[in-house]
Amino acid sequence: MPSPKACDLLIVGGEGDLALRKLYPALYSLWLSSCLPEDFRIFAVSRRQTPQTEFLAAVRTWFDTSRSAQQYDEQAWQDFTSRLTFHSLDATSGEALARLREESLTDDGRHLVVYLATPPTIFGPVCEAIKLAGLVRPNTRIVVEKPLGEDRESFLEINGQLTAIFEERQVYRIDHYLGKETVQNLLALRFANMFLEPLWNSKYIDNVQITVAESIGVTGRWEFYNGAGAMRDMLQNHLLQLLCLIAMEPPAHLEPTSVRNEKLKVLSCLRPLQEGALRDNVVVGQYVAGTADGKPVPGYCEEEGSEAHSQTETFIAIKAHIDNWRWANVPFYLRTGKRLQTRYSEIVVEFKPVPHSIFPSQRAMDAPNRLIIRLQPDETISLELMNKVAGLDVKIPLRTAALDLSFPEENEPGSTPDAYQRLLLDVIRENPTLFVRSDEVEEAWKWVDQIKALLDDAGKAPEKYTAGSWGPTSAVALIARDDRSWREFS
Ligand code: BG6
Repeated sequence: MPSPKACDLLIVGGEGDLALRKLYPALYSLWLSSCLPEDFRIFAVSRRQTPQTEFLAAVRTWFDTSRSAQQYDEQAWQDFTSRLTFHSLDATSGEALARLREESLTDDGRHLVVYLATPPTIFGPVCEAIKLAGLVRPNTRIVVEKPLGEDRESFLEINGQLTAIFEERQVYRIDHYLGKETVQNLLALRFANMFLEPLWNSKYIDNVQITVAESIGVTGRWEFYNGAGAMRDMLQNHLLQLLCLIAMEPPAHLEPTSVRNEKLKVLSCLRPLQEGALRDNVVVGQYVAGTADGKPVPGYCEEEGSEAHSQTETFIAIKAHIDNWRWANVPFYLRTGKRLQTRYSEIVVEFKPVPHSIFPSQRAMDAPNRLIIRLQPDETISLELMNKVAGLDVKIPLRTAALDLSFPEENEPGSTPDAYQRLLLDVIRENPTLFVRSDEVEEAWKWVDQIKALLDDAGKAPEKYTAGSWGPTSAVALIARDDRSWREFS
């Protein structure tokens, strides 16, 4: 891999949850694998007056709970932390940032990546301050995290604040699901192999299921989550991005514009939900007290900091359609929720039955071929095929067998790069392919907004489900009405 150019990383919100839990462990792993420029420097900024030693202690505490801790090396840790400095300053102040620039962020051709690990409410003021401080250079990039707005209108406002200062090529909008190894493997599977493409359409595919199930609750984020719900927190971004990668046409090149253009086309073909179609196509739920990992857990409205009568959904299941030639009439069933039985995310592509079965048991008609792309807890790809049971039975009995298409882990166990490693490195090496362009975010909001509006008009309260279950019973009915079922976790 060519060595990236000299680069500084400025993390605004440098003492926050995201930076501590995700960014520093990922940066350490990159450092350990020599992926970062030799003179790489990280400037963590926050308003808090935290001494450097205390800051580093917090970084270490969170690091020890991360996957990267499996690769701990004392020397590498010392080298890494010697490049990581804490600066107590107000990042909305141009003068404060200008002082930092004069002291440390000098313009000697170094690249500068500014990571806004903060709520979007301060994106605008921070961008203004960066400009005032003279830090907007051709080599500057800005990284932002979701939530990018709570609907199309607020997204456009936030985005306007970013693009008033930065060119689109400088803005990196993270959807960390795109950084997951299996998601990129999906690109390889679809576009580096010939066998799937002729089958990849409504003639051979019966339905697609995308499940992102979490066993955790709102983990101390009640206030944020209550304003978002599963639809804005997960569906609008992570699930729709996965859907795009499954449904998009082969891009002409593995180059940002080509890939993003194809994803955008999928989003713009999502069928808007018709009035009156809500009941059969959307299920929203909210968890009540139950169990998680064998322990009793409170309901959503009893979590710390909660309001007793919140109507926010912690679960959503939806039947979507993509109105284009390739996907006409193929349902895409999407579901995601918190406090479900276990943590797992997978995409299931279910093929149509054979047109005529020669096997007396008809099993070949009953058990469809399925391509299963598992993102979590393990990262695997498998193809379920019908197979003969070994033996002398004259009837040729059949069974389903899974063909493992995962790539063997070539490296040490646990060394598959984490999503943030991949994405941080891509920002540093100026590759925006796995980042979301503004028109994609806007199109995703358009689709979600109209569903939200229909739900609000209908005054539909979320259906209760017990924590530790698989969600509301209506979610089972949603797919059962079409004579199908969710693939069970195994
Ligand atoms: C985040 C959501 O974007 O993704 C969280 O805000 C959610 O609510 C998280 O828990 C899930 O990410 P992962 O990688 O653990 O599946």
